[in-house]
Amino acid sequence: MLLVARTVAVVVVVVLAGHPHTVEAKIGTFWHVTDFHYDLNYTTSGDPKRMCWDTRFSSGSVGEFGDYDCDAPFPLLTSAVDAMKKFDGEPDFILWTGDDTAHVSNDYFSTEVVVNIVTNLTNLIASRFPNTPVFPVLGNHDYYPKNQMPVGPNRLQSEVADLWRKWFQQLQGHGDVYNSFHSSGRYAADVPGSNVTMVALNTLIWYKSNNETALLPDTTSDGLDPDGQFTWADSLLKDLAKKNRRVYLVGHIPPGTFERYQQKRKGFHWYQPRYNDRFTQLVQQHAHVIEAQFFAHHHTDSFRLFFEEEKNQEQRIPVSYQLLSPGVTPWRSTLSEETGANNPGIRLVHYNTTTGKSRKLRLASHFHDTPLSLVNQNHAIRTSLHVPQVVDVSTYYLNLSAANLEGRAEWHLEYNFSSTYNLKSVSPVALYEVAKTMKANRTLFDLYYRANTVGLEDPEKCTEKCRLLHWCAITEINYSRFYDCNNGVRLSWRAALGVVASVLVLVVR
Ligand SMILES: *[C@@H]1O[C@H](CO)[C@@H](O)[C@H](O)[C@H]1NC(C)=O
Ligand SMILES: *[C@@H]1O[C@H](CO)[C@@H](O)[C@H](O)[C@H]1NC(C)=O
Ligand SMILES: *[C@@H]1O[C@H](CO)[C@@H](O)[C@H](O)[C@H]1NC(C)=O
Ligand SMILES: *[C@@H]1O[C@H](CO)[C@@H](O)[C@H](O)[C@H]1NC(C)=O
Ligand SMILES: *[C@@H]1O[C@H](CO)[C@@H](O)[C@H](O)[C@H]1NC(C)=O
Ligand SMILES: *[C@@H]1O[C@H](CO)[C@@H](O)[C@H](O)[C@H]1NC(C)=O
Ligand SMILES: *[C@@H]1O[C@H](CO)[C@@H](O)[C@H](O)[C@H]1NC(C)=O
Ligand SMILES: *[C@@H]1O[C@H](CO)[C@@H](O)[C@H](O)[C@H]1NC(C)=O
Ligand SMILES: *[C@@H]1O[C@H](CO)[C@@H](O)[C@H](O)[C@H]1NC(C)=O
Ligand SMILES: [Zn+2]
Ligand SMILES: [Zn+2]
Repeated sequence: MLLVARTVAVVVVVVLAGHPHTVEAKIGTFWHVTDFHYDLNYTTSGDPKRMCWDTRFSSGSVGEFGDYDCDAPFPLLTSAVDAMKKFDGEPDFILWTGDDTAHVSNDYFSTEVVVNIVTNLTNLIASRFPNTPVFPVLGNHDYYPKNQMPVGPNRLQSEVADLWRKWFQQLQGHGDVYNSFHSSGRYAADVPGSNVTMVALNTLIWYKSNNETALLPDTTSDGLDPDGQFTWADSLLKDLAKKNRRVYLVGHIPPGTFERYQQKRKGFHWYQPRYNDRFTQLVQQHAHVIEAQFFAHHHTDSFRLFFEEEKNQEQRIPVSYQLLSPGVTPWRSTLSEETGANNPGIRLVHYNTTTGKSRKLRLASHFHDTPLSLVNQNHAIRTSLHVPQVVDVSTYYLNLSAANLEGRAEWHLEYNFSSTYNLKSVSPVALYEVAKTMKANRTLFDLYYRANTVGLEDPEKCTEKCRLLHWCAITEINYSRFYDCNNGVRLSWRAALGVVASVLVLVVR
């Protein structure tokens, strides 16, 4: 392996138009912000048991910048966007993955109210970052009625498309960005100055709570592939691979299982099972062109790994990773008791915009000191020459209780991957190493766990059962494999049964 690395390391100079050029590597940045959940009815005299709205039962007062039991008041949101401006006012772009409205009943909403809230937050971001490209997608709370985003054109999508037209027009799309978003809520567009193409998915149509698609029979083509989105992504990714682009796959709702739902040890997931499987296959088939994935919706900070194919635990080769970004709202989820609240978080991603070396070199040197134990020859030989690799991930946070006590919202760096996980750059292999180390090393797990709620929850609270849940959620996107992992089922047995079953099927056919 070392030998391979050295051979590649020699290629530091490329010849362009007859002249030798040293390849320059600029480290670019972008913000990933998400899940603002702006509650315009929040009041400091509100009752935290009633979303900090209702003053009638209130016994005291709640904080100016928010409360762990409530969604975000406007001063929290301005402080978040001001913090973005302060810590990096000139990012290459902003990724904004939605969920703009509060977790309150549909009775308080209409399409018009939702559009007004999206408009307000769009203006807030645009006021601080007037010249920064923004790649936005909608969340499940950005539709009225919530979660019920239909397939194809609709009033909300078209009004938001008009609202975002200025952003869309600045982007170099693969297809017309405005038209694509207008009719389907998805698009693909390039990041200026790098070989990154953002592929922004409409994940809302894969959500099991979306009756517009969940109730479609899986015998129809729309039931199997709502709005043809898998087919679209499949041919788009093939095309982008041919063009030597590297993809950042982005969306609101992630596949796999929620890492903070222990009840009955069943876990909890969002995508309809058939879409979860198709998403996994899409990633497996196109892992060579997908550089990274950025999703949201959990409000917590975690990551997910995809493997080459479903093999037994020892032979698994990680081929793709997904970073789940924490939310700005601190709201304590009502989904389950252990889901809890979080401190407000925003994320700055550092990536290598211009690269001239193959992935082999970087694979051999993921870590600062540790030689890589797991580098697989197969995995190392990835063809792309220009890899806009993520080199670091920094999360900034607001200590909400401190902010309310002090009467001012001072954001701080919470942690970064380079320092906490000792990573030189982020890759599927490197993150798999982190996950495995975390499993064995409680100290590292506790650092991850603290970050999971953006510094709010004490890792002491996470029992052995809880730690297993996180490990299984990170490493098993597949629902049944997650279930087995979380229930301690030996995978070899399951695999053996699978072989017997498929043989039987062949015989019966
Ligand atoms: C805010 O509260 C008022 C009064 O209860 C209600 O009519 C309105 O629908 C609420 N708006 C939102 C967006 O929650
Ligand atoms: C958004 O709403 C807040 C609170 O109602 C208001 O103060 C602010 O001016 C609005 N901002 C924009 C940019 O529309
Ligand atoms: C979705 O459909 C299910 C099953 O028919 C039903 O129980 C549920 O109330 C529906 N949800 C919405 C939001 O319409
Ligand atoms: C998920 O796991 C189940 C059971 O092991 C298997 O039948 C299915 O094919 C898996 N899905 C994918 C996409 O690998
Ligand atoms: C993008 O990739 C092409 C080769 O496909 C390469 O010539 C070019 O230098 C790359 N650009 C950047 C900014 O990395
Ligand atoms: C960025 O890529 C260049 C070219 O491959 C490499 O020399 C450099 O070390 C990378 N920078 C980081 C921080 O990984
Ligand atoms: C946040 O502030 C509170 C109150 O000042 C303090 O007890 C807590 O330790 C702080 N948490 C972090 C992560 O700094
Ligand atoms: C990463 O975190 C360490 C420790 O907090 C800090 O010293 C370093 O400056 C951080 N790096 C970046 C790029 O923010
Ligand atoms: C466990 O992880 C911590 C934090 O990364 C590290 O300092 C420590 O050396 C590790 N312990 C072992 C036994 O590897
Ligand atoms: Zn949300
Ligand atoms: Zn959501």
